[in-house]
Amino acid sequence: MENSFGKLFTITSFGESHGRCVGVTIDGCPAGLPLNEEDIQREVDKRRPTSSLATTRAEEEKVEVLSGILDRHTTGAPICLLIWNKDIDSSEYEKRRFLPRPGHADYTAFMKYGGFNDFRGGGRFSGRITATFVMAGAIAKRLLDLIGVEVLAHTIEIGGIKAKTKGLDEIRQNVETNPLKCADLEAAQEMLQVIEKARAEGDSVGGAIEGMALNVPLGLGEPVFDTLEGDLAKAIFAIPAVKGVEFGSGFSAAGKRGSENNDPFTIKDGKIVTLTNNAGGILGGISNGMPIVLKLAIKPTPSIARSQETVDMEKMQSASLEVKGRHDICIVPRAVPVVESMIAVTLCDFTMRAGLIPEIIK
Ligand SMILES: Cc1cc2nc3c(=O)[nH]c(=O)nc-3n(C[C@H](O)[C@H](O)[C@H](O)COP(=O)(O)O)c2cc1C
Repeated sequence: MENSFGKLFTITSFGESHGRCVGVTIDGCPAGLPLNEEDIQREVDKRRPTSSLATTRAEEEKVEVLSGILDRHTTGAPICLLIWNKDIDSSEYEKRRFLPRPGHADYTAFMKYGGFNDFRGGGRFSGRITATFVMAGAIAKRLLDLIGVEVLAHTIEIGGIKAKTKGLDEIRQNVETNPLKCADLEAAQEMLQVIEKARAEGDSVGGAIEGMALNVPLGLGEPVFDTLEGDLAKAIFAIPAVKGVEFGSGFSAAGKRGSENNDPFTIKDGKIVTLTNNAGGILGGISNGMPIVLKLAIKPTPSIARSQETVDMEKMQSASLEVKGRHDICIVPRAVPVVESMIAVTLCDFTMRAGLIPEIIK
């Protein structure tokens, strides 16, 4: 397994969904960053299940700082953060230990780890693991604040309902005001209905998220193998249920002409900028100073209440499965803060590699 990410700002995620805790160790954070538990808790709370859309697992998700923070400042030592798992009910998982859920990682994990993997609640493959990404992201965001980088994410599609394009102010204002984390409040209402319909039918829905980083310094990215796109995509694909990532015009670039897709250069306020941003802020794997814009597709939640065909891996015979228990009908809203976090963690690492964040914050 590989549970660490980053070269200078390194995060190591640990814990399982129904184990004792989930946690993260962050190494490489400079000393002197003003930080306390509440700063991290605020970010983690954004990922908690809200309303009827999500799992009924009622976790308090209280962040505990085990090391690396003293007198409300980082010490320069590894920061270890964890959340104890309290509301655990593994009974359903025990019953269907050998019946892999279609669409989930039960089958591949069982085969790869010879059945020794912690299967309860999906173990390391549970959405709960993304709480560890958000704790690391909270610190990365604080570091990026120092150089004026802002990271945003919002829901742009759920169950086929697409949000209208909104400006940055509306995104900033609206995302935390509705459980869908969507800047288009009308579309959010429709999305809610689609989710409720899927629930009533024992089904689930997927969707898409847009992630952005503003004020990103020019020059982040280490071609040819550690390109900014490459590492951002790797970070985003660590989020379970992500099935596609595109930057700027992305897959639509395939059908465009160069004259449409190129971003013409111009000079504004003495700075070189581009008139459009089809590149999504990255050229040659290096940030070009324009906003970084990416989109990602999230599949419908694999665990559904409907009867599905599967196999009994122990008896090697056909079986059917209805997944009971506590599951998100739509993963998308809960993944929004996770996307922000993984963008922040990646940018923080590259910013340090470019020498733009000092070793001691004074
Ligand atoms: C925030 C979040 C919550 C999730 N909640 C669930 C869930 O309740 N039920 C479920 O089956 N999958 C859930 N998932 C998705 C699974 O973890 C994921 O589909 C599975 O590990 C297989 O990985 P893959 O889809 O990337 O192939 C969630 C993912 C995230 C990011």
